[in-house]
Amino acid sequence: MHVPDYFDLQLLAPRRILTGVGCRAALPGLLAEDGRRRPLVVSDPRLGDSAALRDVLALLATAAGPVPMTSDVPGEPDVHCAEAIAALLQRGQHDCVIAIGGGSVIDAAKGAAVATTNPGHLVDYEGFDRFMVDPLPLYALPTTAGTGSEVTRVTVLGVLDPPRKISIKGARLVPTAALVDSDFLLTVPVRVGAAAATDALTHALEAYLRPASSPVSRALGLRAATMILRVMGAGAAYATPANLADLSVASMLAGLAFGNSDVGPVHCLAESIGAVYHAPHGAANAVFLGPVLHYYGAVVALPLAEVARTVWPDALAGRSAGEATQVLVAAVEGFVAANDVGTLRSVCGGAMDIDRIAALAVTNNSNASGPIPMTQADYRSIIASMG
Ligand SMILES: [Fe+2]
Repeated sequence: MHVPDYFDLQLLAPRRILTGVGCRAALPGLLAEDGRRRPLVVSDPRLGDSAALRDVLALLATAAGPVPMTSDVPGEPDVHCAEAIAALLQRGQHDCVIAIGGGSVIDAAKGAAVATTNPGHLVDYEGFDRFMVDPLPLYALPTTAGTGSEVTRVTVLGVLDPPRKISIKGARLVPTAALVDSDFLLTVPVRVGAAAATDALTHALEAYLRPASSPVSRALGLRAATMILRVMGAGAAYATPANLADLSVASMLAGLAFGNSDVGPVHCLAESIGAVYHAPHGAANAVFLGPVLHYYGAVVALPLAEVARTVWPDALAGRSAGEATQVLVAAVEGFVAANDVGTLRSVCGGAMDIDRIAALAVTNNSNASGPIPMTQADYRSIIASMG
């Protein structure tokens, strides 16, 4: 496991990060400041008739009419979806993209922003800094608290042949602005929000536990994890306005944590079943997080105990690091069960091919970012332990 002798972090973040209920109202002002006059809104079909969405569209309407918009984004979008949006952007000569949605929408919009200004196909740009031209500016308004994509330099999109996920990364892919307004979360079904919150917790913990993470990422991950775990303590009654506000901020902090570091083996497994079985990303992480933390064992006991003791200082007084870790993992698994997020079998839609998923996970480019080296056999053992 490579740990650098010293850290030299070039902190990547949107130029503007707005948080708090109602901050969406600042969007027209931000666009005017940046001289953007021809936005295309990419929104989430699952948002339905959300009051917050209607509000943003009203803010963006001009004397010429409503702002152009597409909602043609499936869950777990692929490169073709992003390229279709890029065609709309080119045809309409748009000068920026406004993404209002969950991770699927923001990632599709990021891919579209790259495909609009760069030649060829998005698969050509898999990896880090492979595209040459700046993407169109992107203004991101997350409507779930999970993805963190509103502040990161990465988009994850599906490809079909063979089915897998590709990551396109680059400092220039960080959105221009993130407007983190928890009003959007009010319409998210409790179960979907719970899966998203577990995804955010996974971002926080994978960045925090990664040996090569800088102190900045570790601090962001620690803070995000404690905020999310406090909310998870409410179980099935978590979705209060105050808790949703905390989750939206924590998700953003977790995005900054892993966006300036990496995720790890939980995501390697989750992305693998996402590619093969179309398992939703949040639920996929939710089912693997507990088993992977358990598999790490003593290696992560001290750092995880630090998180747990911050969240439950009284209950864990005098308890060992191992016990504190068990309390943390039990809290996550209790939250996932209480909100019916799913099981490995249900998120995969049936039995899964353990060898195929283990083989895919080990080739994920975040495989080396865990606290212990993970082999194909390790992944097989983790999956087998889940029954
Ligand atoms: Fe994730």
